[in-house]
Amino acid sequence: MDNIITKIDRQNLPCHVAIIMDGNGRWAKSIGMTRSFGHKNGVNAVREVTEASAELGIKYLTLYAFSTENWNRPKFEINTLMSLLVSSINKEIKTLIKNNIRLLTIGNTESLPKKVQKELSKAIEITSKNSGLTLVLALSYSSRWEIINAINRISSDIRNEVIKDETITEELFTKYLTTSNIPDPDLLIRTSGEYRISNFLLWQIAYSELYFTKKLWPDFNKNDFYEAIFDLQNRERRFGLTSEQIRDK
Ligand code: IPE
Ligand code: IPE
Ligand code: MG
Repeated sequence: MDNIITKIDRQNLPCHVAIIMDGNGRWAKSIGMTRSFGHKNGVNAVREVTEASAELGIKYLTLYAFSTENWNRPKFEINTLMSLLVSSINKEIKTLIKNNIRLLTIGNTESLPKKVQKELSKAIEITSKNSGLTLVLALSYSSRWEIINAINRISSDIRNEVIKDETITEELFTKYLTTSNIPDPDLLIRTSGEYRISNFLLWQIAYSELYFTKKLWPDFNKNDFYEAIFDLQNRERRFGLTSEQIRDK
């Protein structure tokens, strides 16, 4: 689909797009290279979707970069991913500033190596006043971890009387998630032809539109991203209502 960008309705953009970036290993294997080579090339696709989001004027882009379960991968691969994170942040920080992009992280970032934590804090601090796209990296993230973490913190706040009224509402619960100030995704994309959520944003995607593509992550480019947005714009989000109710609104 050429010129797909011209078909996108700029008045009707999703506020938040989340992506499960999958397929680096298979991409590398298909050309006889190591998994690490796949991860290195995955960084190009990160650049593509970040630029595309910023250019379109999307407010939030969340990228699933490392899951809680990914800690069980071979040590060498984990180390590659961690050093890639540090070098990419270092390399891209100027571009983030130039393009008015704010960096945030979600997940159990305390479990990341100190060096990674330091680089991330620095980048988050430097970009904190930026008002364009918010780029959210999910690192050492899993939804079940996040939910249990929220429940434990709520329980502790009740014990310590930080919370006076013990009625737990959706609104209160949401405040204790690592995504507390981030709206729910409108669109969730997963690459590599896998049809699963892999413990990502389970609470937050209650009403997100799902988009699956066979493309492996390092091959995913701006046009693929635009195609996903265009697809979303041709769907009717009903939130439990009938079609008629939506049209009469
Ligand atoms: C996604 O690619 C990157 C991470 C999960 C860190 P994979 O490494 O999962 O690649 P495949 O799924 O094995 O092809
Ligand atoms: C999901 O990909 C996690 C990230 C993209 C960071 P995985 O490759 O780890 O997912 P599964 O194990 O195939 O479900
Ligand atoms: Mg995978």
